Amino acid sequence: MKIGIPKEIMHDENRVAATPETCAKYIAQGHSVAVETGAGEGAFFHDEQYAASGAVILPDARAVYDSSDLILKVKEPQFNEKARLHEVDMMRSGQILITFIHPAAPSNHDMVRRMASRGVTSLTLDGVPRISRAQNMDALTSMSTCAGYKGILMGCNLLPRFAPQIFSAVGMIKPINALIVGAGVGGLQALATAKRLGARIFAADIRPAAREQAQSLGAQIIDLKVPEEAAVGEGGYAKSLSHELIRIEQAALAERLPEMDLVFLSALVPGKLAPVLITEDMVKTMKPGAVIVDISIDQGGNCALTPAGEITLTHRVHLVGIKNIPGLLPESATSMFAMNMYNLISYLVKDGKLELDRGDEIVRGILTTYGGEVVHQGAREAMGL
Ligand code: NAI
Repeated sequence: MKIGIPKEIMHDENRVAATPETCAKYIAQGHSVAVETGAGEGAFFHDEQYAASGAVILPDARAVYDSSDLILKVKEPQFNEKARLHEVDMMRSGQILITFIHPAAPSNHDMVRRMASRGVTSLTLDGVPRISRAQNMDALTSMSTCAGYKGILMGCNLLPRFAPQIFSAVGMIKPINALIVGAGVGGLQALATAKRLGARIFAADIRPAAREQAQSLGAQIIDLKVPEEAAVGEGGYAKSLSHELIRIEQAALAERLPEMDLVFLSALVPGKLAPVLITEDMVKTMKPGAVIVDISIDQGGNCALTPAGEITLTHRVHLVGIKNIPGLLPESATSMFAMNMYNLISYLVKDGKLELDRGDEIVRGILTTYGGEVVHQGAREAMGL
């Protein structure tokens, strides 16, 4: 196959879908790779490195789209200001696109419909199921790992005090208390990072399995007083709670919040809006100078005051609502993303061609548009199809 790697065009997006290392792997499998000039610059992968891997460097996005069967990207298609053309309009019938599409999000419905009507075959990385054989293809998990690590660093950077215990000639300075709410992929990485920085760590989650994992990292557990049968659903995933249980959870968190310096929020039930676990009144009880990093902001946020895409100081507490945290760790995020992509493509390609067996659980989860139709289940439901 002819694989194309355009430069990402979303504002401030420094990631890219392939590294020189994965380009070399594709070429070793018998594919050819074309990379738009400067595509990896933001992640510190340079044209010369791509060229040395055997890839061809092309001058613009149009040339990459025109010469490729399979386009690999990080973010969903959007309008390319430089080319004065939407990325969907650069694609042709039968061409294949693999990227994060988020096809159920209402803001993407028009774009997904247009991909279908142009006959583009698209596959969305956010549909990779969280099953063991798909683990090494799961870019969402990789990106949550990046957000857990970088989110804690950003929080510590905003704190007006040391994170670890410090012994000095003027006395001992106590370590900070860091609370992580939602000990899933991002939350566990946040816990491990806060611990490495010397914080005393606390965790809260409604799933007993998540609490156990947090405890094994050394976290003290805050009891949210939510019964297991109300919290855990099919396959061990968290369930959405009733208003009543959310209020109970808020009360449990409110008791401990005034002790915390750094609060990291990553509570989510997949496919739902993020539950609001910290209200404005609760923020008012926090220490002056405390920081809340709310990574669930794409789903609305776990704190009622989190500003989407920004950092604010409200009631003397910094609130971080930055959306593309993995993009702030571009080299690691790109390396992980590119390997996930490579593993997915190696799984899908048989005899040099992409084979889409719609009976396969992984293909069913990711296939978004195919044969002129929107086929992704979540997107179809969200679009009322
Ligand atoms: P995950 O599904 O692994 O973890 C979510 C955790 O929240 C689970 O352990 C679940 O039990 C827990 N939870 C659900 N409801 C809860 C409640 N009411 N109270 C306490 N805990 C609850 O999800 P993952 O991959 O860690 O992602 C977390 C969030 O981070 C998502 O909203 C995701 O979109 C976001 N994210 C944000 C990024 C950014 O740049 N801002 C980058 C990557 C992920």
